[in-house]
Amino acid sequence: MSDILIHIDAGVTTLTFNRLDKKNSITAAMYGQLADALAAADADPAQRVVVLQGHETIFSAGNDIGDFLNAPPSRENSPVFRFLRGIAGLSKPLLAAVCGPAVGVGTTMLFHCDLVYAGDNAAFSMPFVNLGLVPEAASSLLVPQAMGYHRAAEALLLGEPFMAEAALEVGLVNRVVPPSEANALAQAQARKLAAKPLTSLVETKRLLKQGQAAQVLARMDEEGALFRRMLGEPAAREAFGAFMERRKPDFSKL
Ligand code: COA
Repeated sequence: MSDILIHIDAGVTTLTFNRLDKKNSITAAMYGQLADALAAADADPAQRVVVLQGHETIFSAGNDIGDFLNAPPSRENSPVFRFLRGIAGLSKPLLAAVCGPAVGVGTTMLFHCDLVYAGDNAAFSMPFVNLGLVPEAASSLLVPQAMGYHRAAEALLLGEPFMAEAALEVGLVNRVVPPSEANALAQAQARKLAAKPLTSLVETKRLLKQGQAAQVLARMDEEGALFRRMLGEPAAREAFGAFMERRKPDFSKL
């Protein structure tokens, strides 16, 4: 069974994280599959809407930490960056259904979604500082815009989780439902969108986003260059090693 399931039905392309034993953490191979699927969906007139979803207990634990240690993304066109540019540039509507933890890129990808539905067990976190890293996916730009500066600073500097109700309040999610209903709700909304005229959907999304599309890509590049550099520095190595060894990291000398 693949770690990313791709299902296309009635104009809706559903991309499901399917690596439950590793909490749906995302490897380079998975980013590659996702990036390819997004590009294919954008190019195919029969695919009108894309949905990202996980399991009702976990959306995604973020980037695979073993990959960060052993095969860190080193180039601008590494699979993770292709995926991030793919979600930022998708011309068609992008929806997400989020239940359980959504860590790191599990949360930052949502700022590129048009509609987000959450289970009441959803827990969003962006612990980049705790990992000796910096925000990615243009989250340093989009999080303060969406949540206000102080809430963004709390989320990005402390990196502590915030729950579905808080995400609803700041407008990151559209609706909170029982976890068993989140994927079905996203599917129902996607099917409604898929039945609408495609050009109107695409042009409306473009107009909604056009004020800052270039700025988002520029910020992603700036964050990406810093992120790639910091992956190899002592703070990140200590954080990843501590995760693998199931101990607390020691940043006292860093
Ligand atoms: N990368 C690689 N493996 C991961 C992972 C990740 N990001 N997140 C979880 N896993 C693995 C664990 O190593 C463990 O593997 P094992 O069974 O072989 O030991 C398995 O998934 C289960 O994880 P565990 O931590 O025991 O589950 P939990 O239910 O107690 O906690 C999370 C779930 C998501 C809260 C926790 O796993 C977590 O915080 N993960 C790291 C998140 C992170 O920092 N991501 C990077 C963001 S940039």
